[in-house]
Amino acid sequence: MIFWRIKSLDAILATAEKKSLHRTLGAWQLTLLGVGAIIGTGIFVLTAEAAQKAGPGMMLSFVIASFVCIVAALCYSELSSMVPVSGSAYTYSYAVLGELVAWLVGWALMLEYSVAASAVAVGWSGYFVGLLDHSLGITIPFELANGPFAGGIINLPAVAICILVVALLVIGTRESAAFNAALVAVKIAALILFIALTLPVINLDHFHPFMPLGEAGVVAAASSIFFAYVGFDAVSTAAEETKDPQRNVPIGLISSLTICTIFYLLISVGTIGSIGAQPLMDASGKGLAPGSMALAEQCQSLLTAGQQPLVCSREALAQVLREIGWERIGNLLGLTAFLALPSVILMMLFGQTRIFFVMSRDGLLPEILSRIHVRFKTPHVVTYVTGFGVTLAAAFLPVGKLADISNSGTLFAFMVVALTVMILRVREKSRKRPFKAPAIWLVGPLAVVGCIVLFLFLPADAKLVFPIWSTIGLVFYFFYGYRKSHVARGL
Ligand code: ALA
Repeated sequence: MIFWRIKSLDAILATAEKKSLHRTLGAWQLTLLGVGAIIGTGIFVLTAEAAQKAGPGMMLSFVIASFVCIVAALCYSELSSMVPVSGSAYTYSYAVLGELVAWLVGWALMLEYSVAASAVAVGWSGYFVGLLDHSLGITIPFELANGPFAGGIINLPAVAICILVVALLVIGTRESAAFNAALVAVKIAALILFIALTLPVINLDHFHPFMPLGEAGVVAAASSIFFAYVGFDAVSTAAEETKDPQRNVPIGLISSLTICTIFYLLISVGTIGSIGAQPLMDASGKGLAPGSMALAEQCQSLLTAGQQPLVCSREALAQVLREIGWERIGNLLGLTAFLALPSVILMMLFGQTRIFFVMSRDGLLPEILSRIHVRFKTPHVVTYVTGFGVTLAAAFLPVGKLADISNSGTLFAFMVVALTVMILRVREKSRKRPFKAPAIWLVGPLAVVGCIVLFLFLPADAKLVFPIWSTIGLVFYFFYGYRKSHVARGL
């Protein structure tokens, strides 16, 4: 029975012990690593999509999404303190729920990391185009900077940044902790400036009507803006490089998420209060779907008339500042996004190659994927394969759709992590837990239910991608991994 193909916790820990990676990261660096992976396209770009789905009620969407992430992070913290190894949710579920579930989690993590990389690339493209336009007066033709869903042909800037990041990864660029810290400092400074300039000009009238598309709109926006919080789990993948991981990984996970949550809430209040966040409706009074042709057309005609509502912006935060009279600082914030978002793509792609690597080390993916480049000593095959898919998606799909698809995979992985923690509480009562999630019988079920609810409120096409993707995964597993698995072959 494949469910009983389990790699025991002790075996996993023993392997990690033997490998003895260099342990250099402390709690502070892990927190910065988390913040670096979290702050990206979600807050810089998707704020506009959240407004289109929820109106000013998107404030509540941020609260809902952060709540689900916080309960999930508590579960991640408990597991990562018990099993401080890389591979994250995939490894935990291999030990507890068996190979089949682990495979599905690993397969879903591909959706999380790869598609997120595409989404961030498309978000970056919006800021790049805006920056060229506002600072240098250079306009990239609309058709060449937008995919077909937004009325264009191909998103060339997004393609270019993907190729650049893939090339960096192949020649072995890993962001140094110091470089990451510098980028995080720049991002935080930009966000603080944003908050400081928008909060004083809040106009309470902008909060009415508060939920023009009802409660359902607020939850749907939460399902999308969830993307803005994704990335804290990257902290747990660095467990093997962390000093005293039992203590430091939980600190890194929870503090990076808490810092970002506080920033996001203030930013959403500042955005809504300063310029308003009302959605565009069709003739019948229904909200237009973000990423749809109908919305793109309405935005285009408003633009021709000299208006650009927040929900049409591809560089939401920069536009808010420009609109309240801080043109130059808006451009500066655009410059920050231009500089910092590529590092989020790099982290997502790096996380992806690492998960592929662990899966192919377990025999579930072809060994050729973990082949190492002779000169650069990097897993170049897997990087090219991933890079090709990521670039293709970034070329043609809109940022919101990509983020929603990525969320569907992430929500599944988070749900399995919460289930795993609860199962281990029953099955392995006496195992040492350096970090214990508080009130697990409340936190665990809340995480599971939260993930399911957010999944159900994703747009229909994103919801459909997940079962299709999983089915392809299952077929692949039964034709390949099932026979080749190292656990099955007793290797
Ligand atoms: N949370 C990351 C972002 O917003 C993935 O770009």
